[in-house]
Amino acid sequence: QPTRLADYTPFSFEIDSVELTFTLHPTATRVRSKIAFRPNPAATDPTFFLHGEGLNLISAHIDGTPVTPRVTDTGLICAVPDAPFTWEAEVQINPQANTALEGLYMSNGMYCTQCEAEGFRKITYYPDRPDVMAPFTVHIDSDLPVKLSNGNADGDTWHDPWPKPAYLFALVAGDLVAHSDTFTTASGADVALNIWVRPGDEDKCAYAMDALKRSMRWDETEYGREYDLSVFNIVAVDDFNMGAMENKGLNIFNSKYVLASPETATDRDYAFIEAIVAHEYFHNWTGNRITCRDWFQLCLKEGLTVFRDQQFSGDMRSAPVERIGNVLQLRARQFREDAGPLAHNVRPESYIEINNFYTATVYEKGAEVIGMLRTYLGADLYRAGCELYFNRHDGQACTIEDWLACFEEVAATDLSQFKRWYSQAGTPKVSASWRRDGDTLHLSLSQEVPPTPGQPMKEPAKIPVVLGLLAGDGTEILPSTLMDLDSPNLDLVFDLKDLGGGTAPDHVVPSLLRGFSAPVVLDAALSAQDRALLLAHDTDPFNRWEAARSLLREVLVAEITGQGTSPEQVARRDMVLSALQDFCTDESLDPAFIALVLTFPSEDDLTQAVVDAGLVPDPLIIAQVRDGRMAAVGDGLKDILTRYYLDLDPGPDYTPDADSAGKRALRNTALMLLSTPQDLALARAQFADATNMTDQLAALSVLIKGDDREAAQAFEAQWREDRLVMDKWFMISVASAPASEALQVAQDLSRHTLFDWKNPNRFRSLLGGLIANPAAFHDPSGAGYAFVADWLIKMDGANPQTAARMSTAFETWRRYDADRQALMLEALDRIATAPGLSRDLGEMVSRMRGD
Ligand code: ARG
Ligand code: ZN
Repeated sequence: QPTRLADYTPFSFEIDSVELTFTLHPTATRVRSKIAFRPNPAATDPTFFLHGEGLNLISAHIDGTPVTPRVTDTGLICAVPDAPFTWEAEVQINPQANTALEGLYMSNGMYCTQCEAEGFRKITYYPDRPDVMAPFTVHIDSDLPVKLSNGNADGDTWHDPWPKPAYLFALVAGDLVAHSDTFTTASGADVALNIWVRPGDEDKCAYAMDALKRSMRWDETEYGREYDLSVFNIVAVDDFNMGAMENKGLNIFNSKYVLASPETATDRDYAFIEAIVAHEYFHNWTGNRITCRDWFQLCLKEGLTVFRDQQFSGDMRSAPVERIGNVLQLRARQFREDAGPLAHNVRPESYIEINNFYTATVYEKGAEVIGMLRTYLGADLYRAGCELYFNRHDGQACTIEDWLACFEEVAATDLSQFKRWYSQAGTPKVSASWRRDGDTLHLSLSQEVPPTPGQPMKEPAKIPVVLGLLAGDGTEILPSTLMDLDSPNLDLVFDLKDLGGGTAPDHVVPSLLRGFSAPVVLDAALSAQDRALLLAHDTDPFNRWEAARSLLREVLVAEITGQGTSPEQVARRDMVLSALQDFCTDESLDPAFIALVLTFPSEDDLTQAVVDAGLVPDPLIIAQVRDGRMAAVGDGLKDILTRYYLDLDPGPDYTPDADSAGKRALRNTALMLLSTPQDLALARAQFADATNMTDQLAALSVLIKGDDREAAQAFEAQWREDRLVMDKWFMISVASAPASEALQVAQDLSRHTLFDWKNPNRFRSLLGGLIANPAAFHDPSGAGYAFVADWLIKMDGANPQTAARMSTAFETWRRYDADRQALMLEALDRIATAPGLSRDLGEMVSRMRGD
């Protein structure tokens, strides 16, 4: 029963207008719909089928005459005229009972909706597919003071003039207060801006509002896109499956991505709020004005909109620091996905449950694909292609082909090979080697795209490799140059005498894949000395960071795999330490950048590195080696770290800007490296004195790791009443706990009075905390797997989407030893055979098992 891209057919009717009337009641909401249909001349099948799930149909009329449709579990079919007609229906639904948080549901007494991807069918009968677009008018009947829907308001009636698919419908009603502001568009239109929150939260909206205004301006200057309604509303909701939703004119947000104060939100939270506010706002053009023909095209709006929000954050903050952060995320989530049983195309070709495809591959790799397109075309042609796309397709539901055709046209180029990025899963591996021949450097690049489920054979991808060359003294002899690796091999020849200005340097070091110009795994034969040179001298900040990271990773992997005591490795460690020392001493560098260089690869990253080395990872050893090496580096760099720690105190006046955040990041990285379970004095002092959540939480993490339970209790006592802060506490209590205790802590916390498991944020905090502690999750007894499996089964009964997302904890089972593999598969089997298993979790488990 999978849905397939190849089976697309247009809907049999078009819609001229939709009118909805909601009479809200917690357990018996009535929804009346009046929809003007007209036969679609492009359709082949005349069947009138409307989606509908869990609806109680009260009445249905066609052109005023009662009709009796044939109702099934998934919708209804009705005989209709072969001419325009008006459909009217009334249904009853129960928002209070809706724990799946899809469709119309209640959160803390407030009504709200989530319709993407296929939630509108739980609200009324409708062709719930993105290619059916219509203008909506919505009446809301309720005693609640605030009633919102899409578009512009006239009393309790909302009218959205822009045709939209049902997944962009939204309704909110509740006892809410607004933080308000205004924005004047480039062409002079005034827009009322409101962020709606529960009373008491109104003083935590200023940053989100500021981010919204900056996003609106940025989209005007960078993409020429203006806002198109007289009001823009954002609502913060405590119970939400995802981050946020771009409903036309009425964005609905998980409250964790709206509410912020220095005392309760970390610098990371502020950065996420800025990025997500921008992301949802940018969807107004990339997603709403131009939407997707079908859900296979999800990356058309998501990859592009992620790329746009990344550009925005890069402009608002430090571009290299943002880039490194994005690549860290991509590797941690998307590379992991691409290397396992859940690997899929950026544009998938079949699905059972579309909600399972809101993935790192569609979003983050989708964004990388847009970035590569821009790299190939250059900024001007990229902008021209976007312009053509907006002009040509405004008001349409489009495909990847429509998008690419705009760039083929403005650049007069053929993108058919580039398009393989959309249809081949797996992370390409690029290998680079080079040799000197007198004054000539021969550089060979080759590529290989690994097999993935259902795709044993791959064609060569078109890979933009930006590279430069450094001489042995650190001077750059070739600045960043774009090379096109579009075949299995590419041989490049450089005249070093020429590049060296008359004399060929003795030693040359290539700086490859600058700025991470393509989402590939690079295997380059760089010696440790060469990487130290790049760390010290590369003009490309990304590759400076990458050099440090790979040096650290190599040192750690050697130690993890038992080679750490060889004289060679001891010498290597000294060399890496002194390279880091030299790097840190350069006080002209951005503290945020230094913090990234000093941040160790994660346990998950190291696990993959061990697997890549052909060995079997032991999560406990990985955690121990990583902790030990962090302490050693902290000791080796003690003087400089202490100096940074003392000098960078930004003082009591917290501001969330990137500069101040960078100082705190470096200071807290220093804290982490300088602290050991035996020496927690600095962390204790910081915990006691902290006046902002960034510093308080950083100190708490160190203390929990050092097994200081009093700090965790003090934090709990201080913040019990704050939902978002308590989410952090649940998470960190487990994620930072010593491996030997984390599972017990998780079990205890699952019985805590504040463990409201049906709240997705709280559930993700506790379960995510355990999963983020690999040495505990992968406990050899299998108890960690069993704990997570039990909770997934329980959550699946209430909220399949959230259970399915969390289940990816098991996607890496093939990495481990036979005993762990068996235990992980046993957990998956138990989920697979749970009574009443949802389609969502069922699909995930069966893909992970490789069925
Ligand atoms: N379109 C939203 C965003 O990325 C994501 C919402 C997806 N929700 C879902 N249930 N699949 O901004
Ligand atoms: Zn999005």
